[in-house]
Amino acid sequence: MKQIKLFDPAIGNNEKKVVNKILKSGFWASGSGTGYVQKFEEKFNDYIGSKSCVAVNSGTAALHLALNLENVKNKEVILPSLSFVSTAHAILYNGGKPIFVDVNPETLCIDPEEIEKAITKKTSVILPVHFGGMACDMSKISKISKEHNITIIEDAAHAVGTKSLNKKIGRHGKYVCFSFHPVKNLAMPNGGAITINEEKFLHSTNFLKSMRWCGISNRKGTKYDITNLGWNFYMNELSAGIGIEQLKKLDKNNIKRKNIAKRYSEELDIETKMKFQKDCSYHIFWIQVKNREQFMIKMKEEEIETGIHYLPIHKMSFYKKFSKKLQITEDVAKKIVSLPIHPNLSEKDITRIIKSVNKFM
Ligand SMILES: Cc1ncc(COP(=O)(O)O)c(C=O)c1O
Repeated sequence: MKQIKLFDPAIGNNEKKVVNKILKSGFWASGSGTGYVQKFEEKFNDYIGSKSCVAVNSGTAALHLALNLENVKNKEVILPSLSFVSTAHAILYNGGKPIFVDVNPETLCIDPEEIEKAITKKTSVILPVHFGGMACDMSKISKISKEHNITIIEDAAHAVGTKSLNKKIGRHGKYVCFSFHPVKNLAMPNGGAITINEEKFLHSTNFLKSMRWCGISNRKGTKYDITNLGWNFYMNELSAGIGIEQLKKLDKNNIKRKNIAKRYSEELDIETKMKFQKDCSYHIFWIQVKNREQFMIKMKEEEIETGIHYLPIHKMSFYKKFSKKLQITEDVAKKIVSLPIHPNLSEKDITRIIKSVNKFM
């Protein structure tokens, strides 16, 4: 029986060709972001409809830099606990304090009412995560941010191609952080980006570019100055070359993901599962099952890989001191399972997954 993977990057000949070309060129990296990196930034900026885009080497680095710009030191940042740990790490890297709040049980995105309750004089940033590619309730979150004068930085690691994050339809955060990790909808060996949506924040672009490459600025030929303690976060040419090819087929691949999600939402005999929504880019499709361990073993015996996204961050040893009771997150975290959802799945594979899930329910 063929193994069905949980994640599987959709690559073709064009990715192979561009990798070969870059390998042969001998030009694999430029910290300042010329060549393919610059091209990727232009194309992604165009795709999102943002005002500027700075490419980096991971979603983690994107969050790290965006929060650095806001200077969250000794301030509070509100986030969901149901996320990859980078969302919280990025706050600690910058000396901020993560304030975990609960999620909406229907979408598993941060609950705006819980955000409101968590605001204090020290709140500096709201950091929503568009869980599984489903956009958070950004109109409510934006309203809260305006009323309390708090910045929004979005973790859109799951949401490359979620249409409501596109400027032409609606944009909300000061900075939007993307990940191009190999399992993401736009896959690279590693990569990430920060997009800036508003003209008035455009001045941050040069600072971000300097910070992603060791604080280098004022380059003139071979001479430069160091104006800040930056990091080595720049994107390499190979990732950017692959990213340009991935971007060309992103919408087509996201439609494939949506079609799979539609079948899952209609054909899975499960009470609690991810809803079907046209705007969602379906990086993840989640279901909730009572006997998760048994269920995952049985799926594995059927050669179908499943996953858990996520074990909540506030329950991790390292985050103990920031922990508090988050009822919905904790209930969900005991039952949540991710099913395969990627463009390499055939109709036959999807039918096999649905039949297996229904058999074990
Ligand atoms: C919600 C979320 N935020 C941030 C990240 C970090 O992205 P990266 O792995 O590219 O550093 C991820 C990646 O898995 C993620 O899922």
